[in-house]
Amino acid sequence: MPRTIPIGIAGATGYAGQELMRLAARHPAVQVTTAMASGGADGVRTLPVLARVWDGDITPLSVDRLVAETEAVFMTLPDSVAAEVGPALVARGVRVFDLSGTFRLRDPAQRRRWYPATPGFVEPAVYGLTEHCRAALPAARLIACPGCYPTAALLALRPLIDAGLLEGDVIIDAKSGISGAGKKPSERTHFSECHGSVAAYGVFAHRHGAEIEQELQRTVTFTPHLVPLDRGLLETIYVRARRDVNEATVTTVLEQAYADAPFVRLTGGTLPEIKHVAHTNFCDIGWKHDPSSGRLILVTCLDNLVKGAAGQALQNLNVAYGLDEATGLL
Ligand SMILES: NC(=O)c1ccc[n+]([C@@H]2O[C@H](COP(=O)([O-])OP(=O)(O)OC[C@H]3O[C@@H](n4cnc5c(N)ncnc54)[C@H](OP(=O)(O)O)[C@@H]3O)[C@@H](O)[C@H]2O)c1
Repeated sequence: MPRTIPIGIAGATGYAGQELMRLAARHPAVQVTTAMASGGADGVRTLPVLARVWDGDITPLSVDRLVAETEAVFMTLPDSVAAEVGPALVARGVRVFDLSGTFRLRDPAQRRRWYPATPGFVEPAVYGLTEHCRAALPAARLIACPGCYPTAALLALRPLIDAGLLEGDVIIDAKSGISGAGKKPSERTHFSECHGSVAAYGVFAHRHGAEIEQELQRTVTFTPHLVPLDRGLLETIYVRARRDVNEATVTTVLEQAYADAPFVRLTGGTLPEIKHVAHTNFCDIGWKHDPSSGRLILVTCLDNLVKGAAGQALQNLNVAYGLDEATGLL
């Protein structure tokens, strides 16, 4: 009988945390032994939305308890909390899958600019875009799971850039549902502001743009928009292919890159839609090439809470522990 991995979820009451709880509860190789959130006056809480899926208590965040009761911890916490808790857990032998942005950027100047509230000291972390880091995961102690926007962009672009097919800058026009901003409403994410509207935000000022540039090593113009959906994101990516590249070349490179990737679905000229990936761990990628101008448009979409967060983190655990990559995720 294969052993069960005791895991903790720190931030279990948030959007990403609840999705993780739901997925982990039906994962055959893990057991959620500890689920935590902020403490305060509430003390011990339950998650009524997960009744009969997971009926345990949500307790106040405690590093000591996580160390005592778990082997691996998923942190779905605000950046500043993850920055403190992550290194403390790693130092005490717990493997950490972090979903915040805290450990993703490697350049200190970039970190100071985009994560000014977190300490300057950074633990070395594996950037956990599963399809492109499988070999590094088994030995990794701290896995910085990518952001939701970067996951969609990088899965589409990395193989093409690695193969030298693209020239010049990259333009990403991205649209995300509101759960991407977490459960606490702000003036921008309040229902009455979003409903019936679409708005650009974070122009030249979104930390995910820096994350995508880090991973691609190329200038990226990234414009996110909020759309009135609860979940899911879609990116339309504008690039220029080398003169000698045609649609078949693009298809071959992407097919080779993802031949063994259970969660990347290549849709070719049938462009993907958010409805096709919502509540799944799939990232769908479609493309169209204009041979007369060399322009290439890629459309990529995923569920920000699954492949963009909880699902990818569990996919990383599967690979890190030598399980089938799709365990508990299909
Ligand atoms: N939403 C997405 O689509 C998405 C995608 C990828 C990555 N992420 C990242 O994942 C993390 C969580 O995102 P989210 O959208 O799930 O946020 P969220 O809905 O706001 O949830 C935050 C969680 O952290 C807990 N928390 C807050 N402050 C705490 C403290 N001082 N001590 C202990 N627990 C604390 C909250 O508990 P309480 O209930 O007690 O407040 C809650 O469980 C963020 O870093 C975010 O950037 C989010």
